[in-house]
Amino acid sequence: MKVPLPDRVTLTEICPRDGFQNIKTWIPSETKLQVIDRLIDAGLRSFEITSFVSPKAIPQMADAADVSAHVLKRIARDNLELDAVALAPNLRGATAAHAAGLSHISYVISASAAHNKANINRTHEESLADLDTIVKTYPGLHVTLSMSTVFGCPFVGAITVEQVLWLIEEGVKRGARDVALCDTIGVANPLQTAVLIDAVRATFPTLEIALHMHDTHGMALANMLVGLQRGVTRFETAAGGLGGCPFAPGAAGNAATEDTVNMLHRMGVATGVDLARHLRAVELIGEKIQPNLMGHLANARSYSEFDFWPKNKGESHG
Ligand code: COA
Ligand code: ZN
Repeated sequence: MKVPLPDRVTLTEICPRDGFQNIKTWIPSETKLQVIDRLIDAGLRSFEITSFVSPKAIPQMADAADVSAHVLKRIARDNLELDAVALAPNLRGATAAHAAGLSHISYVISASAAHNKANINRTHEESLADLDTIVKTYPGLHVTLSMSTVFGCPFVGAITVEQVLWLIEEGVKRGARDVALCDTIGVANPLQTAVLIDAVRATFPTLEIALHMHDTHGMALANMLVGLQRGVTRFETAAGGLGGCPFAPGAAGNAATEDTVNMLHRMGVATGVDLARHLRAVELIGEKIQPNLMGHLANARSYSEFDFWPKNKGESHG
């Protein structure tokens, strides 16, 4: 039986942002950059590299400008086509990202008003007003709406599909170009994911959507598979399975990039990622940042056990 799946997807590597932000002890900038370099060496070409947020809220992101400068230098040096994105929560963050030379931001806004307040101390109206100003001030800036808690909120529980659609509409109206649907606390189930994607597709047929799934309940890959079957072609994943929002209690890490790559390649879906090289980045994360990684492949016996991969189009890293 032929199951229709996209031939190729884009993985946005969010370990340097979502992963590192959740590590309490300071990671020296040099270590962050070594990890990013290894991830680039593995073939990843879409990244959330950092966030321009208050260092009081997230001290780990205080070196956002330095990290950005390094990545931009690497892009120029190696003539890379690489999408370097920074998260921004307000006009100030967007201004800093723009000043750092970046042309793409993830503008974070939570579907849950309570989580928006806890995370970025704003009402929806305040967040949307800043989005207006950002798009008007920097018309060339690519703004992705990074929508937290669309599948559930740690404070109020369920989030309705209508609430998510309302916020997407308000964001798109103000110039957001695309949307990432984020399961911030990792509670979505595959049926719920299907329902939300179908609703977003039906309401905004031309809008590009990405999935950002945490793995708290172990359903991140299953949720991504449902997205894949519905034609989603961008997924935000983190090397090693790091990740979590410090202002969303109870969240575990993201779907691990290596687990996602493994699943996709085995199904013949290309990612451009060389898994063996990617695992070298994961090794570095394990050595220098977080010894207990949530990702499955990081804990598998050895890489050679994957030699039985079928010879299909996803096996090569093209
Ligand atoms: N980058 C750096 N500093 C910033 C900033 C930004 N984007 N926005 C505000 N600040 C600074 C202000 O200058 C001020 O500094 P001061 O106390 O030294 O004068 C301080 O942060 C507070 O500013 P204010 O505008 O009153 O913000 P706030 O206290 O209401 O906090 C946010 C709002 C958005 C700045 C803060 O909640 C935040 O950075 N949250 C990020 C949360 C996050 O990253 N979560 C994980 C990702 S989903
Ligand atoms: Zn996240």
